[in-house]
Amino acid sequence: MKQMIIEGNNTLTGKIKIGGAKNSAVALIPASILASGISQIDNVPNISDRDALIDILNILNCNVDIKGDQLKIDTTNLRNTSIDEKYSKKLRASYYFMGALLGKEKYVEMCIPGGCNIGARPIDIHIDGFKALGAKVKIENNKYILQADKLIGTDIYLRFQSVGATINLMFASVLAEGKTVIHNAAKEAEIENIANFLISMGANIEGAGTDKIIITGVKELYGGKITVLPDRIEAGTYIILGALVGKNLCINNIIPKHIESLTSKLIDMDSDITINEDNIVISKVDHLKPTNIKTLVYPGFPTDIGQPMSVLLTQANGTSLFEETIWENRMGHVPSLNKMGANITVKNMSAMIIGPSKLHGCEVIATDLRGGAALVLAGLTATGTTIVNDVEHILRGYENIETKLRNVGAKIEIKEI
Ligand code: EPZ
Repeated sequence: MKQMIIEGNNTLTGKIKIGGAKNSAVALIPASILASGISQIDNVPNISDRDALIDILNILNCNVDIKGDQLKIDTTNLRNTSIDEKYSKKLRASYYFMGALLGKEKYVEMCIPGGCNIGARPIDIHIDGFKALGAKVKIENNKYILQADKLIGTDIYLRFQSVGATINLMFASVLAEGKTVIHNAAKEAEIENIANFLISMGANIEGAGTDKIIITGVKELYGGKITVLPDRIEAGTYIILGALVGKNLCINNIIPKHIESLTSKLIDMDSDITINEDNIVISKVDHLKPTNIKTLVYPGFPTDIGQPMSVLLTQANGTSLFEETIWENRMGHVPSLNKMGANITVKNMSAMIIGPSKLHGCEVIATDLRGGAALVLAGLTATGTTIVNDVEHILRGYENIETKLRNVGAKIEIKEI
């Protein structure tokens, strides 16, 4: 088990370079098996979710060559075998092997996926879509078995704009016969990035990034090439850090348009923020105005930035509301924040946050990835020492967090215990 020790209340200054987006990379890696040959993915973040997916590729007899942030994935000797719980449970994104293997091999055996404990996380929308394309789906001993003689394009309406289902159904339909139209598709920037990878392999996809995606099946896909787009959630987390303890903290290598829902809130709160073409510079101010945030599907306020943002709301002058609408269980970090001196009352999926609160260091537990990141922000803001336990959650999604923070002046250390 790993523990993070933070000496807080230091002013942070300098540059933090944002890496490739976790939520794009975790779909691009499984997508490579749709191609016959070698695909190249650049700007892949060095996070534990990446390694968990590479383990699955190895089980499928694919060869992965890692050079820095570049992956070369050779699927020439792909062997379609069952993906056991030991591998599938490590992360949510293991479910992208369902769509990819179904599309390529028309047969998948995979145990249920894992992921953060932020809600029930059903996959019924994925499964309904696979069935609409012609797959038969059975669940036996916690294992999904998906099989199709052939997949035939059709109109699929998603009852919710699910990110994962939109991506999985693109994977299952790129090699299907005829045309598939995904209606009410998720519009996240990552989806366009993933579609561009498939297009580089020879797929025919129109409309990715809008709520109607049209896929015309092709017979075969060949090795493709893509650069992972910058991680808007990692960027958002460090921008909030700048508002908490920054002095001209520069978050660079980003696409500011992808986080406008956050930056517009920071402007409303009267923060000191300058938005440039590919970076944002932000400093702490003495009086932040309170605000209300409600998480929504893209381009609304991202659910993955709600928990880090709740830390900033503890420092605003007055009462703010944080309402989560996507996941039922996004308040796991609140008991720890209150232990550190915050004044937060949770009712169902909403939190009332009264600020400003003086935060003080103590021992806390990361219950999930973004909740854990919120505790790191709180620890860097608090006086004294904060010990964050179960840091593995955070390392799933934040590349080199210790080094990135140390480079801007944070006193932070990760220890094995
Ligand atoms: C992706 O999860 C991200 N994960 C999540 O990021 C992110 O919070 C989420 O999208 C929303 O933006 C990855 O990309 C790996 P959804 P995903 O399907 O695809 C319900 C992080 O911290 N739903 O859009 O699993 C579901 O319960 C993570 O980086 C169904 O009911 O999210 C939820 O309420 C955590 N049935 C809502 O839809 C389904 O079949 C949104 O889920 C699928 C989803």
